[in-house]
Amino acid sequence: MKRMLVFLLMITSFFSFADAPPKDKRFKRDSYVQALIKPGDIGAEIGVFGGVFAYHVLLQRDPAKLYLIDPWIAYKSNTQEKMDERFSNVCRYFEPYENVEIIRSRSEDVAHMFPDEYFDYVYIDGEHSYDAVTRDLTHYFSKVKVNGYLIGDDYGWTGIKPAVQDFLSKHKKECIFLSPGAGQYAIQKIK
Ligand SMILES: C[S@@+](CC[C@H](N)C(=O)[O-])C[C@H]1O[C@@H](n2cnc3c(N)ncnc32)[C@H](O)[C@@H]1O
Repeated sequence: MKRMLVFLLMITSFFSFADAPPKDKRFKRDSYVQALIKPGDIGAEIGVFGGVFAYHVLLQRDPAKLYLIDPWIAYKSNTQEKMDERFSNVCRYFEPYENVEIIRSRSEDVAHMFPDEYFDYVYIDGEHSYDAVTRDLTHYFSKVKVNGYLIGDDYGWTGIKPAVQDFLSKHKKECIFLSPGAGQYAIQKIK
């Protein structure tokens, strides 16, 4: 009887937790980013992949609205079939959350959909080239509220650091650069 109960418990917990992305294990990134996000924020994640980080932010930070933007087209070693599967998993994981909106598009193609000064933060983790990061920073800077943040992953990446630094030199009067950490960078808009 006891064994039966344990077995039933295992099955129930497997099914109740299975329909979620794997746990995010980048704890230092989590604390860096989460220190900048407040419950009730309006945010976006550019580059969602399997939804690991987005899911973590959703559970930990309870945003008023979270937009997940990714074209889910063939990416690195992930074939189109694999990315289609990732997309349908992400749709399933986030389906219960009315505050999440999934946008299957390139970030540059949908920036115009958002009003200026709409977001409290935008987390940039899409294409990692110099041009793509420059594009994301530029398109989404006007979409962030004054005092809001553009935050990004992989600051040490070849294209990313120079893109961020060039962006900062162009916009030095409008933003401040926070100390990077855990591979993350953050730019606060000040006007
Ligand atoms: C490093 S993964 C994102 C990982 C995710 N942020 C996480 O931490 O769980 C990069 C993602 O960027 C997406 N991507 C590539 N080009 C993009 C673009 N132009 N706009 C938005 N996302 C893009 C890829 O499809 C891929 O899923």
